[in-house]
Amino acid sequence: MHKGFTLWFTGLSGAGKSTLSHLVAERLRALGAKVELLDGDVVRTHLSKGLGFSKEDRDENIRRIGFVCELLSRNGVIAIAAAISPYRAAREEVRARIPDFVEVHVECPLEVLIERDAKGLYKKALAGEIAHFTGVSDPYEPPRAAEVVIDSSRETVEQSVDRVWSALESRGLIGVAGS
Ligand code: ADX
Repeated sequence: MHKGFTLWFTGLSGAGKSTLSHLVAERLRALGAKVELLDGDVVRTHLSKGLGFSKEDRDENIRRIGFVCELLSRNGVIAIAAAISPYRAAREEVRARIPDFVEVHVECPLEVLIERDAKGLYKKALAGEIAHFTGVSDPYEPPRAAEVVIDSSRETVEQSVDRVWSALESRGLIGVAGS
């Protein structure tokens, strides 16, 4: 048995939020935990279908994801969110509603993201083909006190997952011998 909580990954597109959140979710499930993952890219095809990338729409997206995380956490499920969530106030609004909220800032220098460009979006954004692209032509407000800060350009995926795991253990959210 474990209590519900919310693990929230924030950071620029391509920084590693989806990869890390999937791995943490798998590791929790392997121990029998009840886990739901809300990934921005997926949420935008269902819950947030039709929303764009204006500040208003992004904040609405985050509120919706936060609302679902709140419901899940309250009912004993581990909710994991992975969304750019660029605006601090929207993240703080969600944090204020969820008693056990652990924020993970997945950092990566823009040069590295442009180099990686797994989805080819940075190239397009730099060419002016995507307006309001976070980190290029739209703001990202980094957390001031995230529970975990990861630099995905300097640590391995395994190291990052371990650091998230330790943060959950040290808060008593998962047991040291399991969840
Ligand atoms: S958020 O800002 O509302 O939190 P979210 O995480 O749901 O964003 O979606 C981000 C994903 O949408 C990116 O990984 C990228 O694939 C895609 N995307 C399309 N347009 C943009 C844009 N203008 N800025 C950032 N991401 C975009």
